[in-house]
Amino acid sequence: EKGTYPHYMLKEMDEQPAVMRKIIQAYANEAGELEIEADILEALQQADRLYIIAAGTSYHAGLVGKQYFEKIAQIPVEVHISSEFGYNMPLLSEKPLFIFISQSGETADSRQVLVKIKEMGHKALTVTNVAGSTLSRESDYTLLLHAGPEIAVASTKAYVAQIAVLAVAAYVTAQAKGIAVDFDLKQELAIVANNIQAVIERKADLEQIAEDFLKIARNAFFIGRNVDFYVSLEGALKLKEISYIQAEGFAGGELKHGTIALIEEGTPVFALVSQKDVALNIRGNVKEVTARGANACIISMEGMAEDDDTFILPATHPLLTPLVTVVPLQLISYYAALHRRCDVDKPRNLAKSVTVE
Ligand code: M6R
Repeated sequence: EKGTYPHYMLKEMDEQPAVMRKIIQAYANEAGELEIEADILEALQQADRLYIIAAGTSYHAGLVGKQYFEKIAQIPVEVHISSEFGYNMPLLSEKPLFIFISQSGETADSRQVLVKIKEMGHKALTVTNVAGSTLSRESDYTLLLHAGPEIAVASTKAYVAQIAVLAVAAYVTAQAKGIAVDFDLKQELAIVANNIQAVIERKADLEQIAEDFLKIARNAFFIGRNVDFYVSLEGALKLKEISYIQAEGFAGGELKHGTIALIEEGTPVFALVSQKDVALNIRGNVKEVTARGANACIISMEGMAEDDDTFILPATHPLLTPLVTVVPLQLISYYAALHRRCDVDKPRNLAKSVTVE
């Protein structure tokens, strides 16, 4: 039930700190250490390559998850869009493990891949919010998101839950493999929960940003580098889906290879600056677009923020920034949609779970 909330989407965004805390709790053992079931851990340890299969927002979470498995657990990962995988299957490694990411566990495009790889004799792990869903039942293993029911068509809390659960899986796999990990994930996720809370408490500022940057916009761009690029893709999808403003996410460095031609006087460009090693480069990209008239909204993180940035996020572990940077983008999209009197929870042409291929 949405209770006093005007929309499920708003309620679900507000629940995100609690979802982070729930995940920490659900994946901790009695000694308080992060843990996943032994058979899943073994499957992850034995795999020589992971194939992440997902659609939409879950695909965007998969892109972030790839970073975790590669950087923390040192397992090579490919991320594929479900609907493309069937006819464009890559050459598989000797010991592949398939990871299906699906909030609903009912996405037909993903199920079609699952059926196919099971026929080929491969193992599958589903990361889903719905215990007993089709993908969960038909997979060998399941990791639950513990996000609680997500009703709004636009996925918000499931996205952060997917990223957090993938981080936990990569982290415990690294530990089991004896790979040195130089941070305490549990502690960093607890910080993330507080940081998300701090962003949510600044809703009024984000509503104002939606007003300032998107009130009359016909289109919008989201740019970032490294994981900020993946969050840009998610920010653009959120905005398109509920406000019907045409939006695209780009890798900052890729703009000058074509897309910059679209920048006009007043074009909104949302730039994410959460990665120290590329902060200067993305700021360079912001200069390129503002020189051509763009209206740049810079969302940066403490530690690399500049005084006139539009919105500053609390400092977060560099690998976990997507859990925090996405939140202002979700809220900006929400308010942009509200200002346009769109049906936030049930955008046109869309269903919560897409059960046709
Ligand atoms: O239930 P799933 O995670 O498999 O759904 C995948 C996509 O249909 C879904 O993420 C969609 O992109 C959302 N409406 C995005 O907000």
